[in-house]
Amino acid sequence: MRESVKINRENWNLWAQSWSERYGREEQIQAILQNPSGVWDPAIWKMIQSALPSMEGKRICIPSSGDNHAAFAFASMGAQVTSCDISVCQLENARRIAQRHGWSITFVEADTMELAGVPSDTYDLVFTSNGVHVWIEDLPAMYRSIARVMKPGGAYIAYEIHPFQRPFDERTEGACLRVIKPYDATGPFVDDGVKFHWRLEDILNAMACAGLQLTCLREIPARVDDEEPFWQPANQNNENDHAGSREEIEKMYDWRHNPLAALPQFLGVQAQKPLAP
Ligand SMILES: C[S@@+](CC[C@H](N)C(=O)[O-])C[C@H]1O[C@@H](n2cnc3c(N)ncnc32)[C@H](O)[C@@H]1O
Repeated sequence: MRESVKINRENWNLWAQSWSERYGREEQIQAILQNPSGVWDPAIWKMIQSALPSMEGKRICIPSSGDNHAAFAFASMGAQVTSCDISVCQLENARRIAQRHGWSITFVEADTMELAGVPSDTYDLVFTSNGVHVWIEDLPAMYRSIARVMKPGGAYIAYEIHPFQRPFDERTEGACLRVIKPYDATGPFVDDGVKFHWRLEDILNAMACAGLQLTCLREIPARVDDEEPFWQPANQNNENDHAGSREEIEKMYDWRHNPLAALPQFLGVQAQKPLAP
């Protein structure tokens, strides 16, 4: 196992409890049950609908599944879901929620760069949510694995932080952008784990080399009504503190006040595994 994966796995096992207290609360799970498509940005939901007009019986694999909100939403809509993560503690917390709700989700402890134990040519959809690429040391290996498990003709959809946000300090003062690193400084960055800031070309070329064909690319603005604001008003950048008046938060989405809002915040990518010749 790669050293970066060992370190990140250990950290994620330690963080799983607080992650579950933050994202595994019963009221959040009930909200998913009432409105499963609400877990995705509308642009991503459109991609999902175009790939899978009906979920019933469709096979969906979710590598680096984290909080598993996507897994719960897909399962509640009738899909057969395989949820993969390197953290057994993250998987265990999600398994408990799935059992409570009677969702038959298969949980697999697997590194997204290998997806060992996940069958080949099987999935109608592979979906990765935001905060996945940053932990991945070898993007070509990740996309070779994703392409392997997809059915011929199957779809891959990713929702991810837009790489253009990476070079800037997220605390903008006096409506000025402050550059903290060049765009092509991709890491590894070692602080709380081993992280990578991949560029658009790194992600798209890794997909292309794995034989996936791009069908749609969306550059998506954050929405002020997202469950967690993308930006915090000044002095409130503490991740445990989402306070700030509605007016202060709305100002953060105006590029005249916060220049980072002039850049896309999220990326949506849809690709297809070609049908066998
Ligand atoms: C920030 S979460 C993002 C996932 C999901 N979008 C979410 O919001 O919860 C990152 C997850 O990726 C997992 N992870 C990190 N590196 C991984 C790897 N190489 N293979 C599989 N999972 C990995 C972590 O254990 C964690 O559960």
